[in-house]
Amino acid sequence: MSLPLSPPPSASPLPLDAEQRALLEQLTRNLDSATLWWLSGFLAGLATPGAATVSLSLASAAGATHSPARPETAADTLTIVYGSQTGNARRVAETLLAEATDRGLKARLLRADAYPLAELKRETRLALVISTQGDGDPPDDARGFVEHLLGRRAPKLEGLRFAVLGLGDSSYAKFCEIGRVLDARLAELGGTRITAFGEADVDVETVAVPWRAEVLRTLEALRPADTGAIGDPSNAALPRAAIIGPVAAAATMPTAATREAPVVAELLANLRLTGRGSDRDIRHLEFAIAPAALDYTPGDAAGVWPVQDPALVEAILGAAGLDGDTPVTQGADTLPLRQWLAERRELTRLHRPFLKAHAGRGDSARLAATLADAAATTALLQTTPLLDLLAEHPAAWMATDLVAALRPLAPRLYSIASSREAVGDELHLTVGHEVFQGRDGLRHGVASHYLATLKEGDTARLFIERNERFRLPPDASRDVIMIGPGTGVAPFRGFVQHRAATGASGRNWLFFGNPHFRSDFLYQVEWQKALKAGQLHRLDLAFSRDALRESPHGGVRAPGGGSHKVYVQHRIQEQGAELWRWLQDGAHLYVCGDATRMAKDVHATLLAIAQQHGGLDPDAAADYFSGLEREARYARDVY
Ligand SMILES: Cc1cc2nc3c(=O)[nH]c(=O)nc-3n(C[C@H](O)[C@H](O)[C@H](O)COP(=O)(O)OP(=O)(O)OC[C@H]3O[C@@H](n4cnc5c(N)ncnc54)[C@H](O)[C@@H]3O)c2cc1C
Ligand SMILES: Cc1cc2nc3c(=O)[nH]c(=O)nc-3n(C[C@H](O)[C@H](O)[C@H](O)COP(=O)(O)O)c2cc1C
Repeated sequence: MSLPLSPPPSASPLPLDAEQRALLEQLTRNLDSATLWWLSGFLAGLATPGAATVSLSLASAAGATHSPARPETAADTLTIVYGSQTGNARRVAETLLAEATDRGLKARLLRADAYPLAELKRETRLALVISTQGDGDPPDDARGFVEHLLGRRAPKLEGLRFAVLGLGDSSYAKFCEIGRVLDARLAELGGTRITAFGEADVDVETVAVPWRAEVLRTLEALRPADTGAIGDPSNAALPRAAIIGPVAAAATMPTAATREAPVVAELLANLRLTGRGSDRDIRHLEFAIAPAALDYTPGDAAGVWPVQDPALVEAILGAAGLDGDTPVTQGADTLPLRQWLAERRELTRLHRPFLKAHAGRGDSARLAATLADAAATTALLQTTPLLDLLAEHPAAWMATDLVAALRPLAPRLYSIASSREAVGDELHLTVGHEVFQGRDGLRHGVASHYLATLKEGDTARLFIERNERFRLPPDASRDVIMIGPGTGVAPFRGFVQHRAATGASGRNWLFFGNPHFRSDFLYQVEWQKALKAGQLHRLDLAFSRDALRESPHGGVRAPGGGSHKVYVQHRIQEQGAELWRWLQDGAHLYVCGDATRMAKDVHATLLAIAQQHGGLDPDAAADYFSGLEREARYARDVY
């Protein structure tokens, strides 16, 4: 993303010479929108006559991109802390900051890993917005924060008023678990709730909007009469920079695509990466992009707004006995039922409230029994799309009620598999087509099916989801170790492209795995070329269902055979001594792909390596990798 540095025709000339413009362009080029907001506020703070001297050093800690340097935080400042894996909690927190600022409340926004934990005991107003990941785990950027708060060293918080909004997905067993645990913990430590714990499902704003309104209403009521608006610099202990950023910079922001306002991108290519005999259909997609709207940095993901398969929509209309042309009004929109289902509602992933509503409309004793059992409900949610539910447990729905009960369609994220330095105005994705056996035929994941079946020249609605925690080392001489089995390899294609195109001197080591060498070696030719060209320095492979003999494919380590399945973690274990040496020499370590098994197994293997080759005890090994995470040298992007 870059700022529009040429002045508009009617504006006064830019007060910068060419060299300053180039410097500014260089500085802002790869910054994400949150950092640009912060910077705009920081600069506004510098420009404010009499503003406190602000030092950048405070903000230079890893991840402290939203935290303006502060001499002292005013007692009535609302501190908004977020923990977010894929941006939803961050967006809610940013909106809360903007709304607080609009109301003249003093507020600051910090990502959880940039929050100075020592300040917790002095906080008086805290809003925490945090998602749940994994199997009831915190998002990566909030691990340290959560550990501290739940640990023995957490301070007493009698002077604190707090509010927690948990984000989650009610199709998971541990719905909003982390938010709920932190809400209870803050109360246990002596804090007083500003408002009740909010549980936001996938349609985040349904709960987030009233939660924010309640937080702000209560804080306004608490505000002492003499606290002026933020715009009055004499009244704020925070420099204006902390709080006016979003408002001040609005006029100069480029029109980048957002989740709410995606851009339409044309598909240039859709190639199948997996070969004949593979039981997976994994695709390589290339889109043409307008860089001003879809500028990205390797490590970012693309958000895709899918459209449901028309055949599925017709089948659901048939199964429910509803007419697709029936006009349905929800909020301000009146659309035919068919369009609601195709473009605005989840049909492949149901949630608990829908199941309950569905059970209430039918007379299936089996469904009622399932709903009485939490584990059975979770299993049902994870394997039963709407079409199968309608067929197995029929129930009578009116068109309007059905639209109201189904949850809004959410975009899916895909790691970007390219670098703009290498591919220009294109964006590449690696997409695993989700195909399941349904009750009477195949069922598909909505977004992967939509993408897998796009044809050249078709368009899709995309936006960029920044991932500041998943970045190549700023020091290009550092080595990188990339662990990316399956579609987890996607961001590493972008990393290697980028390091080659920018002449990075550090070494690149990739671990890749998939079922079969012959049919599932994604981007095989590219990796082999990169090895030859010295752009990839090591490639270790684990084809879990093969019994291959030693390296029949030049320079590439192949599994040595045997009857047990070989996964990337086994390759990592085998290379433990070397991997440990790379880490000791300052390498950055990345893991991408499956969250349920792979990321956990890989982490356990890394801990074992630190013990075996680093001589650390189990606690020290865990601390070692937590330290790497804090230094932004160990990053995971798992799903
Ligand atoms: C940060 C991030 C990066 C990602 N990067 C990539 C990437 O690079 N490549 C990639 O391919 N994916 C990636 N993903 C995953 C991707 O976002 C989607 O989750 C994935 O493509 C599935 O989405 P879908 O819409 O196709 O499936 P959905 O419509 O969401 O359907 C999946 C659902 O099908 C159901 N289901 C599962 N098994 C069965 C079964 N046996 N029978 C019936 N139903 C079943 C489950 O309820 C599951 O939730 C990433 C995710 C994140 C969060
Ligand atoms: C791999 C993965 C695991 C998840 N696990 C849970 C979970 O255990 N409980 C839950 O309520 N939500 C879970 N979710 C859903 C997220 O919390 C939800 O999508 C949320 O909106 C994400 O917010 P974020 O973008 O701020 O991280 C999970 C999502 C992913 C991708």
